[in-house]
Amino acid sequence: MWLVLSTYLATVLLPSFQPVRAHEHGRPPHWSFCCLALSVALPGKVSFPSSPAYTASTSSYWSLQESTIQPSCILTPLSALEVATAVKTLSILSHVSGCPFAIRGGGHTPWAGSANIDGGITIDMRQINAITVNSQKTTASIGAGAIWGEVYRRMDKMGLAVVGGRGASIGVGGLTTGGGISYFSARKGFACDNVLNFEVVLADGRILALQGGSNNFGLVTRFDVTAFPQSLFWGGSILYDDSASPQLLKGFTELNKDQNFDEFAALIQSHAYVPGRGFVATANMEYTKQEANSAAFETFVQAQPQFANTMRISNLTDFTVEFVSMQPNGLRQMYITITFKNDFAFLTYVYDTFKKTVSTQLSATSSLAMSLTFQPLPPAITSKSGLKGGNVMGLNPSDGAQVLFIRSTGKAVHDEMVREAKARGVWNRWIYLNYADGWQGPIGSYGEANLRFLQEVSRKYDPKGVFQKQVPGGLKLFK
Ligand SMILES: Cc1cc2nc3c(=O)[nH]c(=O)nc-3n(C[C@H](O)[C@H](O)[C@H](O)COP(=O)(O)OP(=O)(O)OC[C@H]3O[C@@H](n4cnc5c(N)ncnc54)[C@H](O)[C@@H]3O)c2cc1C
Ligand SMILES: *[C@@H]1O[C@H](CO)[C@@H](O)[C@H](O)[C@H]1NC(C)=O
Repeated sequence: MWLVLSTYLATVLLPSFQPVRAHEHGRPPHWSFCCLALSVALPGKVSFPSSPAYTASTSSYWSLQESTIQPSCILTPLSALEVATAVKTLSILSHVSGCPFAIRGGGHTPWAGSANIDGGITIDMRQINAITVNSQKTTASIGAGAIWGEVYRRMDKMGLAVVGGRGASIGVGGLTTGGGISYFSARKGFACDNVLNFEVVLADGRILALQGGSNNFGLVTRFDVTAFPQSLFWGGSILYDDSASPQLLKGFTELNKDQNFDEFAALIQSHAYVPGRGFVATANMEYTKQEANSAAFETFVQAQPQFANTMRISNLTDFTVEFVSMQPNGLRQMYITITFKNDFAFLTYVYDTFKKTVSTQLSATSSLAMSLTFQPLPPAITSKSGLKGGNVMGLNPSDGAQVLFIRSTGKAVHDEMVREAKARGVWNRWIYLNYADGWQGPIGSYGEANLRFLQEVSRKYDPKGVFQKQVPGGLKLFK
């Protein structure tokens, strides 16, 4: 089922649609015309700079960069209907005042301008966060502005789970439209593969268009997703001394094998430089059964020396709260991602290069932390979407097990990694949207056919390119 709340844009926008960029005219007045019109159309839902509601919204982004962006006003809609009214108002006014806007979910994208907009209007979706479960307990309907922690608290009480983020404070909206890797992904696929219906304002596109299409087709207001029974399970983190790293790298490639990947296993492995402490390694592990120390994680449980170990049997809420407690808001952050074959030699090369870079680039007094993170991307994950109607991300299970690699250092290191991965024949073109920096162009990485399909859907259902031009933030379909 496909709900279209408003098809207004297709007929109303003038052909000479020309968004006005705030910065082309210096800083716009706070009471911009667009904001004024919005506060007339939706009284009480628009907040302005230095009001408590405005400050609460801007200060709640994960990264410092997103927090320091100053929209002219922030709209906080309470329903899909109010979202439709807002988009209608903004699109009508676009030919007069531009009225560029941003869509904000959980606010966890690190780079500036992905879910916030200088001088424009930020639509903060977080009040649209209702969570209901059908009587058969097979489907959860989740307001797109909810965060995963709220969702899991409800699910845990009912002995259920859904495929979603691994951090309690991550938004449902951004994570799901961008893909979404979960503790359950090897069993169930990406979060977007488990969406049964999208309720969306102002996109007429096929449902498929949103599964990996981020904010390019409309404003999603509700996701209906598959719910399934889930018991307590084993999870947590182990913090190791850096000397354990070679064992962990070996363990990673063993766990992340093409065949026989244990579908109950999930792993996020990091190697980091922490100022004042030096190099450390961490493994965040889950085994989504009520079973401790399964064979899949033997290497990780055995590896020494360990500084801290929180592995235990608990619930989904508890693990996702623990995960983000180590990643607080308010710091400058950067993610860059690449994907490559599950290759021990290359993994080791990446780790060695990381250590070399840190040693040469950071002074002893630097307060900069750097880390690299590896996540398994086995066919167990990538093959699931095909069973459920497919997504547009263009991952090919026959490529075998891949490693998703995220790091928080500069582009130069990224370029070097890509060059080396290509030279070794382990490079994979796929760029995971949810970990991509603003310049990375993940949608282009979905492959020519998928990109063309998405662009066609956009031209057909959003002919004036509202979600391309009037919503300039995020990762776009057209370069
Ligand atoms: C600490 C941390 C942990 C993470 N863990 C995971 C993980 O376990 N698995 C994983 O896959 N990723 C993970 N990520 C990455 C995460 O999926 C992305 O950062 C994602 O974009 C966050 O969604 P959000 O709603 O919080 O972000 P936002 O920054 O608010 O939104 C992200 C993008 O989605 C768009 N968007 C948001 N809501 C809507 C909507 N309703 N309709 C249309 N477009 C919308 C925004 O315009 C923006 O471009 C993590 C990130 C962090 C920082
Ligand atoms: C989940 O686990 C935490 C920690 O043990 C506990 O405090 C909480 O009540 C549990 N929640 C549910 C819904 O079971």
